[in-house]
Parts: sequence; structure tokens; C-alpha cells
Amino acid sequence: MSRRPLVQDHVDVNLWDPATFAAGIPYDAFATLRSEAPVAFHPEPSRREGGREGPGFWCLTRHADVHAVSTDPETFSSYLGGFTGADISGAVLDETRLNLMGIDPPEHTQFRRSVRAPFGPSVTRELRPVVENFARTIIDGIDPNAEIDFVSEVAAELPLLTLAHLLGVRSEDRGLFYDWSNRIIGNHDPEFGGSIKDFLTAKDELFNYGRRVITEKRTAPDDGMVSTFVNATVDGESLDDERLIMLWFLLLIAGNETTRSSLTGAMEMLHEFPEQRELLLSDLDAHMPGFIEEVLRFTNPVLHFRRTASRDVSLSGAEIKAGDKVILWYPSANRDGDAFDRPDEFDLTRSPNPHLAFGVGPHFCLGARIGRLQMDVMLREMLTRLPAIDVSQPARRAHSIFLNSAKSLGVRPLGCT
Ligand code: HEM
Repeated sequence: MSRRPLVQDHVDVNLWDPATFAAGIPYDAFATLRSEAPVAFHPEPSRREGGREGPGFWCLTRHADVHAVSTDPETFSSYLGGFTGADISGAVLDETRLNLMGIDPPEHTQFRRSVRAPFGPSVTRELRPVVENFARTIIDGIDPNAEIDFVSEVAAELPLLTLAHLLGVRSEDRGLFYDWSNRIIGNHDPEFGGSIKDFLTAKDELFNYGRRVITEKRTAPDDGMVSTFVNATVDGESLDDERLIMLWFLLLIAGNETTRSSLTGAMEMLHEFPEQRELLLSDLDAHMPGFIEEVLRFTNPVLHFRRTASRDVSLSGAEIKAGDKVILWYPSANRDGDAFDRPDEFDLTRSPNPHLAFGVGPHFCLGARIGRLQMDVMLREMLTRLPAIDVSQPARRAHSIFLNSAKSLGVRPLGCT
């Protein structure tokens, strides 16, 4: 395949290799691509021994292009080839199309409308005291004299407890969700299994658990999300079990690791930019919303989503063919100097802040309010109770080209009150 320009003619980076991102997001390479080849083609060597080479993909690095493609689902489809970089077909692609993320309008619009109620403003208002209670308990459990792992003891705990509450499942089982989510998202990371087999086993276990929950909620509904989805209708018809299980899967994956990474990113920013930390601490009410948005822009919990071109189309000088895979690199869009003044500076007073950390367009993150709420509540609790908490061991990042996940981050909780 001779698509031009080629990423590798401009930068020496393999964006298809999960190890690249484990070493940190390659912001310099993205900056070069934005200025020299904003839509560039990347070959797709096999990532597993004996695996086959993929068809390659277009890398979108400019904010304007990521925005344009995300808001044009007719030309750039989530249905044709799925929504992640993986090159899928057959039964796997069919299964992806049962997922809210794997379909296009108008089907997507109807499906989303039927399940969106639990993500609205009133629900997040009701959720706040519950999340506050979780955050208090988590901070209560921290030993003020010991170094702790912020990822497992703080950042992972809050989304797990929140999701268990929202989905109406036993919070004691959250360790299972933590493990499944790590093995599914981290399936390229040797520490989490690192094989397709392990990914499939974890997915099976998560699905089996979910099927039991769905059956349970059909017979004994409560006011949790699963019961709401069981009773939801699209065009007058109930969602079938296959769609329900894919929704369960989506929520556990989408709502879990992303929030964990956002909280970990916030802790890293507090450490890296002490003057910003001072400013935030000087008035939490005034500065917390801006801090949260800037953490999302600067740390990029999600690295990419994918679309597939439904027709031949020109974009920023590149000729994309029908059927081509298109990757939206959010970290690059979020550092684009055409969209942000001083893009490489962390500035909690930035306004406006049109970051794309939650995406944009029809698939804009359905859980954005819930994610922001958890960040707001935990950061307030932590900075009020442990104002001197600081990083003592840098983060170890997972091998993934999809999510920017930290596996651990050492902190010293000095100054517990
Ligand atoms: C703060 C952390 C989070 C970040 C950074 C994040 C980011 C994203 C992104 C980038 C997308 C795709 C947008 C696109 O394709 O245009 C997305 C979709 C989605 N997210 Fe989130 N997310 C977060 C938290 C959550 C939470 C807490 C939930 C649920 C409880 C959630 C549920 C979803 C769902 C259901 C979708 C699919 C929406 C659709 O296809 O219509 N997310 N998220």
C-alpha cells in the first residue's frame, strides 16, 4: 500500500508499539507531525510473534482534523471497522457493532437516547454525596506515616466503588473488576498477562458476571443503571441481552481506567507544577473546575479512538481512501498551538479550554459528568485532609496505545489531619 505522507519519513517513532507510550506520550513527535504531515500514514507491523501485518492507519494529529472527523460520522464511521486501532473483522466486528461506541447515527442516536438518563445532571447531583462518602472512606484508610501507591489505594478505588454503586453490584467484588479491566485494557502489558488468551479469559469472566447481574435485575429491579437499561427501549423494543452485556462491558471499561488515570494525572500535575498547586489550594472553589479541565487536556487519559472512512476523502493534504483506518490522536490535538495558546504550559486558569479528552460529536463521553464529579470530590477531599501529599516515586505506565494508564505512583501522605 503506498499511502503518503508516511509518519516514518518525518519522525522516528512507532505509534503502533505499546512500549512507545509506556515510556511517555511522544509529544515532540506529535508536534513535528502536526507541522510537517498532520495527516500521515503509519504501517502496522505485527505486535505479536507470528502475527500478521495490518493494513496501516492514518494518524490525525491536529485539533481541527480530530474535531472535523469526530463530528462527521457519515464520512468517518465507527460501524465500518470498530472504534479502536485493532484490525477486526467477522464475529469480533459484529460483536463491536452491538456496542454503543461501534455504531453510527441514526442507530447510535436512538440507542444513546434510550440509555442516557442515568448520566444526566440530576443523577450526578444525587451521586455527589455517595461519591463524597467513598472519597472520605478512602482517605480515612490512608496511613499518614507510610509511602503508599496512589494508583491502587486512591485512584483505582474511587471509580470502582462508584461503578459498583451505579451498576448495583457488590462493592466487595470490585477487586474482580480491577483485575478484569487491567487484563483487558492492559492486554499488551506483560505484567497484566500480555496475551490474547488472557484478554479473552478476562473478557469471558467479566461477561459471565454481567450476565448474572442482568438476569438478577430482570427479576428484582433496583434503581441502579443495569435495571434502567433492562427496562430501556429503542423504537419500542427492549434491548436484547447481547446489547445489554456490551453496555455492561463498555461501562466497566470506559468508566474505570479513564477516571483512575485522570486522578493519577492530577496527582502528577500537583507535583510537577508547585505554583499551580499553590494557586489551586488558595481557593479550591474558584480553581478546581479549571484545574480538572487542564489535567484532562495535559495528561490525556485516552490516547486514541478510531474511525473508518466510508468514501474517498481529502484531509489536510492527504488522500484517504474508502475503508482506510483513521486514528484520532487526542494527546496531539490537545497540544495543538492552533487551538491553544501556550499549548505546552499547564495553566489552570486557561479559558476557554476546548480540549478533546472526552472526544467530541455524537460519541462524546457519556460519563463525562460522572468522571468530572469523581475528580472534583476526590481532589477536594484529598487536598483538604492531606494538603502536603506529594509524589515520592514516579509513575510506571502501562504498555498500551489506547489508554494512558499508570500502574503505580508512589506518594507520601504527609500532613494528615
Ligand atoms: C474522566 C475520565 C474519562 C475520560 C477521559 C473519558 C473519555 C472518553 C472518550 C474520549 C470517549 C470517546 C469519544 C468519541 O469517540 O468521540 C468516551 C466515550 C464514552 N465514555 Fe468516557 N471517559 C471518562 C469517563 C467515563 C465514565 C466515568 C463513564 C461511565 C460511567 C464513561 C462512559 C463512556 C461511554 C458510555 C462512552 C461511549 C459514548 C458513545 O459512544 O455514545 N466515561 N469517553
